[in-house]
Amino acid sequence: MKLIRLALPIWSLVLLCVLHASSSQEIQIVNAERRIDLSSHIVKVFLTLKIENTGTSPVSDVLLAFPPTQANHLALLKAQAATGKRKKKTFTFLDVYPAELPEGPNGTKYFSISLHSKLGAGEVVTLEVLYMLTHSLDPFPEEISQSESQLVYYRDSAILLSPYQVKQQITFIKTPSSKIESFSMVEPTNRAGAELKYGPYENHSPHSYSPVIIHFENNNPFAVVEELVREIEISHWGSIQITEQYKLAHAGARHKGVFSRVEYQSRPGHSGISSFRHLLARLPPRVHSVYYRDEIGNISSSHLRLDSKKSELEFEPRYPLFGGWKATFVIGYGLPLEDFLFELPDGKRYLNFSFGCPLVETVVNKLTVKVVLPEGSLDPSVDVPFPVEQYLEKKYSYLDVVGRTVVVLEKNNVVPEHNSPFQVYYHFNPIFMLAEPIMLTTTFFLLFITCVAYLHIDLSISK
Ligand SMILES: *[C@@H]1O[C@H](CO)[C@@H](O)[C@H](O)[C@H]1NC(C)=O
Ligand SMILES: *[C@@H]1O[C@H](CO)[C@@H](O)[C@H](O)[C@H]1NC(C)=O
Ligand SMILES: *[C@@H]1O[C@H](CO)[C@@H](O)[C@H](O)[C@H]1NC(C)=O
Repeated sequence: MKLIRLALPIWSLVLLCVLHASSSQEIQIVNAERRIDLSSHIVKVFLTLKIENTGTSPVSDVLLAFPPTQANHLALLKAQAATGKRKKKTFTFLDVYPAELPEGPNGTKYFSISLHSKLGAGEVVTLEVLYMLTHSLDPFPEEISQSESQLVYYRDSAILLSPYQVKQQITFIKTPSSKIESFSMVEPTNRAGAELKYGPYENHSPHSYSPVIIHFENNNPFAVVEELVREIEISHWGSIQITEQYKLAHAGARHKGVFSRVEYQSRPGHSGISSFRHLLARLPPRVHSVYYRDEIGNISSSHLRLDSKKSELEFEPRYPLFGGWKATFVIGYGLPLEDFLFELPDGKRYLNFSFGCPLVETVVNKLTVKVVLPEGSLDPSVDVPFPVEQYLEKKYSYLDVVGRTVVVLEKNNVVPEHNSPFQVYYHFNPIFMLAEPIMLTTTFFLLFITCVAYLHIDLSISK
């Protein structure tokens, strides 16, 4: 009890220090430029911030602020510091993590960018931030018929939400086409074709916010994989077998009325313009034994293009997907072991494979990656470049004696930028390579003995 009472003031002191260190008075944003790309269903925001330390002591962290709805849909957040002049610019990636701060006004959430070297008093640094939001375009009308185009709403603030004073700022918003039904005005606001310009605005105090809403056409495939389970099975006999189970949905405006295949086929590009039927999966090079099937069976309408850098599998579900429609299917393929499995000098082995979903421009709500290690593997450890849930399972298959260790990784809200390499390390005793042949030989030997015995008995009875 005494300990707790003691611990509490210390903890609040630490918090105060953190708060103080990133106090908004010491940093000023000299210039902010935001480019919001609304051309697909994944919202991509490129933010360039020129930051000045106007205080007296060095600063090591810079805060980014998000309204709560955006924070909930944030799939990716990256930051880098730019050094050098125009042509000779070099970039270094910086660590970004959720800030241990109480929520700001109106539930504002913060992320902290930690600078490599402290920013001294009076110094200036340029940060480039990229973030992506999923499920942030709301179809309106919510239901459309086959002949209608899809319209969506995007909500944001014309003024950058920031805990710091922003001296000068401008925001560009790019829509997929020039069909913009309406947009909020926060003077000066300009529109040129498929681009809206908010600003320049000057001298906004910390936590300024000015909500805007943009209503525009977006017929790009709203392809959302509600659930994807990827199983990567390593066999030391020479191959890696991948099985991917998809639950795909069209997350755009719901389809209203009956579906006319005649109209769909006779007016391609006009009828069902927001629907999609072609899917493209980027697979590693040297892929083999590719199959694609759904509940009914194998689907042959797929094309595989192979080159030395990648393989592309283009395929179609049995029917085009309209808003609210779903398709469940499985893709499977094999890959040469030597491209993905390596050995370290200490004898440890590791798999180096790509995380994420091979389908282009899709969001995965829930991704589960299962790496099935060979029988007899020990001490698995995982290296993934972003936070994931992880645990171990056992899998028993044909001829297994002790079962295989399965490393399970789970991540929600996955975008194509999460297709980066991850590694699973493990120890393997080569004696286990002999387990299966020994099992087989023993089985045959026992079978042989049984046959001989049976024949022998059979003979003795007939006598
Ligand atoms: C919080 O939200 C309300 C309503 O949207 C708004 O009037 C108010 O100015 C906001 N407060 C701050 C500090 O942003
Ligand atoms: C589907 O294709 C795979 C690979 O080509 C094959 O192994 C499997 O037997 C096929 N299944 C059916 C039901 O045709
Ligand atoms: C994993 O593979 C990628 C290329 O696919 C390569 O850039 C990276 O260095 C590899 N990582 C390890 C630890 O081998």
